[in-house]
Amino acid sequence: MTPRRYLMCPPTYFAVDYSINPWMDPSAPVDVDLAVRQWSALRDTYVSLGHTVDEITPISGLPDMVFAANGAMVVDGIVYGSQFRYPERAAEAPAYLNWFARAGFETHEAKQVNEGEGDMLLTDRFLLAGTGFRTDLGAHAEAQELFSRPVITLQLLDPHFYHLDTALTVLGGANIAYLPEAFTASSRRVLAQLFPDAILAAPADAAVLGLNAVCDGTHVVLPVQASGLADQLAAKGYDPVPVDLSELLKAGGGPKCCTLEVRGA
Ligand code: ARG
Repeated sequence: MTPRRYLMCPPTYFAVDYSINPWMDPSAPVDVDLAVRQWSALRDTYVSLGHTVDEITPISGLPDMVFAANGAMVVDGIVYGSQFRYPERAAEAPAYLNWFARAGFETHEAKQVNEGEGDMLLTDRFLLAGTGFRTDLGAHAEAQELFSRPVITLQLLDPHFYHLDTALTVLGGANIAYLPEAFTASSRRVLAQLFPDAILAAPADAAVLGLNAVCDGTHVVLPVQASGLADQLAAKGYDPVPVDLSELLKAGGGPKCCTLEVRGA
């Protein structure tokens, strides 16, 4: 495992009062205290694994700001800002970009609609980029120019898996786990060519956002409910670290959504 640096946002103002994905039901109650406790346990898990966690100050009126993965994409110390699909989340983009600017990073405002690491996942060789629900194709080209990493476009087709990070996990840089059913037939063939040894997740594990996981090369922090995927990961030599984020799941988010990886220069 290599020590990582993560940016997270406490769910102080977490709520589900609008619906921009099929998981979000504004009529269902949300327990903010429980969300804060579950989020704190996730942060403490990273720290206990040897990682560094920075925290951005949450903003009242931005209930989804806890999902830091959507705030930006950071590679080699270069920050590609987000531009959210829905107006409800638009104000999060400058908040995250300002955090990086103040922290001394090279920041770039997005010209194209993109939701950060929610739809862009870095492997050793590629920048895997999702489209279909949130991030526009134009953003894939913008990211490739900015990061000088070859972008692989992947087409999502199930609204429950609206961000790439809900359907695919990067494991240790060279391998991945994913839910084939979340992708078009062509994108599945692309994934099979590039990652012949990938772990294919079962629909039941993906349905609890089991693939919304964070890997440091050894440990895989994933939703406790995804026990089948944990077994598959252990069989491949990874060390599954289960966490319970049941409250945040009500907004369609899991551990990865709450975690933005800060990759230095
Ligand atoms: N409610 C948020 C939205 O729909 C959840 C975002 C989850 N983030 C992620 N990286 N998948 O935008």
